[in-house]
Amino acid sequence: MKGIKFDFTNMFFPNIEKGIKFDEIDEYKEKIKEIINEIMDEEPGFISLLKDTKYLEKILDIQDWVQSFESFVVLGIGGSALGNIALQTTLNPLNYNYMKGRKTPKIFIVDNVDPDFVASILDQIDPHKTLFNVISKSGTTAEAMSNYLIARGIIESYGLDPKKHIIFTTDPENGILRQISKDEGIETLEIPPEVGGRFSVLTPVGLLSALAGGIDIIDLINGAKDILEKSKNTNVYENPAALNALLHFLYYKKGYNISIMMPYSNKLLLLADWYRQLWAESLGKKYNINGEIVNVGQTPVKALGATDQHSQVQLYNEGPDDKIVTLIKLEKFERDIKIPKLHEGYSALSYLGGRKLSELLNTELFGTEYALTEHGKPNMKIIFPEINAFNVGQFIFSYEFQTAVMGKLLEINTYDQPGVELGKKVTYALMGRKGYEEFSKEVKEKIEKKEKFII
Ligand code: PA5
Repeated sequence: MKGIKFDFTNMFFPNIEKGIKFDEIDEYKEKIKEIINEIMDEEPGFISLLKDTKYLEKILDIQDWVQSFESFVVLGIGGSALGNIALQTTLNPLNYNYMKGRKTPKIFIVDNVDPDFVASILDQIDPHKTLFNVISKSGTTAEAMSNYLIARGIIESYGLDPKKHIIFTTDPENGILRQISKDEGIETLEIPPEVGGRFSVLTPVGLLSALAGGIDIIDLINGAKDILEKSKNTNVYENPAALNALLHFLYYKKGYNISIMMPYSNKLLLLADWYRQLWAESLGKKYNINGEIVNVGQTPVKALGATDQHSQVQLYNEGPDDKIVTLIKLEKFERDIKIPKLHEGYSALSYLGGRKLSELLNTELFGTEYALTEHGKPNMKIIFPEINAFNVGQFIFSYEFQTAVMGKLLEINTYDQPGVELGKKVTYALMGRKGYEEFSKEVKEKIEKKEKFII
């Protein structure tokens, strides 16, 4: 069978003493069927975008222009950057920007306003040969907007034409980027209004930088479509994304508040970063859909195998029963290294000689899986036969669907993020944005009144 596989063996009793029993799954069979039908009827943006792929044509139309630059710089944050980063690191070589003979632009993704970070990227580009892709659905996010202003300032200071060095990705109607695009004729791609930031990696948000970096975006979409078809299956035992959601939900109800994603592959690591946002921002909610206070959510954590075996795994094995570990196994690495047979007289070294690094890494994964299971800790495995755009598309859609199902099980709104707003408002107020004068006063007064404890 083509594509990724889900191994749930160590999520179930008796393999795990406190594991989920099949009876518990059976109790939810009907509920899951209802949820799947509901999601398919409601067709949230991350599903409908796979039906109408007109936006792909537009991106492919500008492929030559986009790839003619030496550097392609994304300016965005959160859902307007994490998917881009995940696609680049997963589907391109880890040293992509430094590869000799590369035919496509270097890709930089600026998803913070840390001046050291931003400056370090600006140091690496030649503005004459750079295309900046400003991505913001709302067109208001302070981080993306300030980095846009910086990029624009540089372009203007070099006497360059902004139309030749900037492309926006934003809402079709609203926001300041759309306004500027109309006023100045800057090339602009649309983010379908019904697709929220963290679900937007398969829209022009994630696809343009992917294409710029030479990634096969058609195969990515095909992988997503493949899992969409599998996700229509209302039998939870045959629907990996729904089963994964249900297992996480049942464990969550038993106090397993932490969901760890641990790829045994540096290239797959940042998929876990993308997942963290999806799981945290979609499911961490104060209110349920009936307006009752519920304060739900499962904390997503990322870890890297084998590195974090020497940092985190002690806790995972012997700490509290509050974690589910998803290991990600890569069967075929793009490259491999054979360990030389040296020091054959020393048994602490000789067993390694002649073996491949991929073999060692996957043996370590097996060791972690075995140890977690022996310690009674629930763990599952996603198996990538290899890394390609189709498999990554499958993974992305699978987690989007899983998140949608989990949101329904938790009875919350999966697609909003009211908890992010307050911090944003405070920034606007304290940075002097018009309309926030009163709120700024309120914040300052509250801070003044606080008893300070700084040592
Ligand atoms: O998932 C989300 O909605 C957020 O993480 C947004 O993507 C993030 O805040 C950036 O928003 P915008 O694209 O409007 O600049």
